[in-house]
Amino acid sequence: MKIIACYSNKGGVGKTATSVNLAYCYAQAGYTVLLCDLDPQGASGFYLRVKPSKKLKDARFFEDVERFTGSIRASDYDRFDVLPANLTFRDFDVFLSRMRNKRSRLKKALAAAGSDYDVVLLDCPPNFSTLSENIFRAADQIVVPVIPTTLSERTFDQLVTFFEKQGLPKKKLRAFFSMVQRRKTLHLDTIERMRKLYRKRFLNAEIPFAADIERMGQNRAPLGVYAGRSAAAIAYQELFDELENGEVSTI
Ligand SMILES: Nc1ncnc2c1ncn2[C@@H]1O[C@H](COP(=O)(O)OP(=O)(O)OP(=O)(O)O)[C@@H](O)[C@H]1O
Ligand SMILES: [Mg+2]
Repeated sequence: MKIIACYSNKGGVGKTATSVNLAYCYAQAGYTVLLCDLDPQGASGFYLRVKPSKKLKDARFFEDVERFTGSIRASDYDRFDVLPANLTFRDFDVFLSRMRNKRSRLKKALAAAGSDYDVVLLDCPPNFSTLSENIFRAADQIVVPVIPTTLSERTFDQLVTFFEKQGLPKKKLRAFFSMVQRRKTLHLDTIERMRKLYRKRFLNAEIPFAADIERMGQNRAPLGVYAGRSAAAIAYQELFDELENGEVSTI
């Protein structure tokens, strides 16, 4: 089992769109996938037409493998299951901060409940918290969407600094440029500067700003289902290929 977190400390950068579309790419490639919606807003569950579980009122289900696995739902797609959102940040954080092994609790829970899956993807909320520290420790790869603008650049700098201060392995960070508009000089300049500064931290694949992606909210389906040949769907496929094989597909 491999754990991939889709994380940014900035909101609205494309974490959920990426989680859903990457999960779909993995499932289509033949892997069994569990997408965990860790953001209480429940957006990835919404895109996949999976309702939040009402049964789970507290975060203790992380300690209870049966309750955890019992709340997993099938999506409409083969090999693609979802753990819908059902908790608030506060629930997660209060629970995790009380644990003796608070920094690695999430990893233990996923290892127990997600072991049947090839890939566990985490759609994360945008903040620094006990939960995000758990996410950083649990994940094998942390996929970070970065919009090539000044504020997003600053947020990525903060994330890298946090990793350095906490002694976390920076090589887990796999950033990529999201919502790219190549006709904007600011975007091109920021991409060039950040690629130089961070070199290996950035994947080659870039996700363009695309109306097809915005339409996920209306279609409530991964992009590949309703616009499989679009530039945006191909870009997600390239992101998947690069994460999985370290190379960009030639489709
Ligand atoms: N590449 C893109 N091009 C155009 N719109 C996009 C793109 N990626 C995401 N969006 C749109 O931008 C909005 C935010 O995207 P998304 O919900 O994936 O971000 P997020 O980082 O998960 O946000 P949050 O921090 O609120 O969880 C959504 O309306 C989505 O449809
Ligand atoms: Mg989101």
